[in-house]
Amino acid sequence: MKICVIGAGHVGLVTSACFAQLGHSVINVDNDKIRIRNLMKGSMPFFEPGLERLVKENRKNGRLGFSASVVDGVKKCGLIFICVGTPPREDGEADLSSVEKVVRKIARSLSGYKTIVEKSTVPVNTWKWIKHTVGLYSGQGADFDVAVNPEFLREGSAVRDFLKPDRIVIGVENERARKIILEAYRKIKCPKIITNLPTAEMIKHASNSFLATKISYINSVANLCEKVGADVQSVAQGMGYDPRIGKAFLSAGAGYGGFCFPKDLAAFIYIAEKNGYDFAILKAVQKVNEEQKRAVARKVKEALWVLKDKVIGVLGLSFKPDTDDMRLAPSIDIIKALQSDGARIKAFDPAAMANAKKLLRGVRFCKNAYSAAEGCDCVLVLTEWDEFRDLDLGKLKRLMKIPVIIDGRNIFKPEQMKKLGFVYKGIGR
Ligand code: UGA
Repeated sequence: MKICVIGAGHVGLVTSACFAQLGHSVINVDNDKIRIRNLMKGSMPFFEPGLERLVKENRKNGRLGFSASVVDGVKKCGLIFICVGTPPREDGEADLSSVEKVVRKIARSLSGYKTIVEKSTVPVNTWKWIKHTVGLYSGQGADFDVAVNPEFLREGSAVRDFLKPDRIVIGVENERARKIILEAYRKIKCPKIITNLPTAEMIKHASNSFLATKISYINSVANLCEKVGADVQSVAQGMGYDPRIGKAFLSAGAGYGGFCFPKDLAAFIYIAEKNGYDFAILKAVQKVNEEQKRAVARKVKEALWVLKDKVIGVLGLSFKPDTDDMRLAPSIDIIKALQSDGARIKAFDPAAMANAKKLLRGVRFCKNAYSAAEGCDCVLVLTEWDEFRDLDLGKLKRLMKIPVIIDGRNIFKPEQMKKLGFVYKGIGR
């Protein structure tokens, strides 16, 4: 099939490379000419495990092309995926101006039948606006269908999530669009949920919000565990064996971040309010998450009393491991809180330092975890990168001024840390 993917961000580029890998002929379009030029030269705009290899392979075999022109992509392809950003406005409402702009361009480029698929995460009933706008700008009699196909990929495992998904959700209005989209995913074996368009849109927002709820729930349990002498990791394990609860997404920590959960929750709350429903549970989820970041900063203070001129070595800056993404990473708020109390921050992250430098002021960025820990009054773990689990803790201790570790992601074992002579505090145990 000939597929045009509009947007070369995380979702768009992964979707393009993976559809090419499935044997389709793909044009990935983005209005950022520099990004497109770099991609043509083989330079990736962000770090995502396995993606660079797929892009190179499919560039070589001719199945993956890049372009800065929507007209070019739409003219050549029958199936069009919209994967542009939907960032949050101040009040939480999703900013759909990029989607609208792209839709107008698609409308103007229509020639013959097209299936236009909304893949960006959008508020429910955005499909109606897409259909309306394509109709408005393409002139009478344009032949097209609008469909919804939300993406569930996670940064850091995006390629795997695309090629081996738990499910594929497809919202369509008719048989023609259903057949075409199913054909695009024919080689992927997994449950395929075919439904109407608003339901497909709701599935995406409801899924992300539920996952964020799980995290805030276990963080709340962790806070209580600390007060009563229980261990949240064992509590989560004990809960997780119940298949109705499940083991995943029950890791207590420094709170969720990234460009999906915070923004999708805000958008879901906003759309609920607009429809006259107060989504109180999600407002509590947001509140718990904000408080969780403050609680981690408070732990450092509780260990060191006065923070002025204390040196804190932060291990991990990205919002989660295996990504260089710093967007809404809990590390940003936590570091700022420590700095406002006068602490001096040294930091190391295996992948996110270039992005972190653009967002964090007054931080000394170090070449590895050991140099970040050197001379510190406290080491604070904020992202659970595997390489931190494998650190030589004896060496780390010798390098620190005093051996205090606040483990914001529970990567170490409390008994072992005590044995090694650390003053150690995790989350919820
Ligand atoms: C999330 C969803 O997991 C994807 O299914 C979805 O497609 C994506 O958003 C999206 O809407 O595009 P992502 O933001 O890449 O994916 O990251 P997650 O792995 O879900 O982690 C989000 C945050 O939750 C991270 O900050 C992570 O540290 C935190 N988290 C996760 C916890 O604190 N505890 C957990 O148990 C799990």
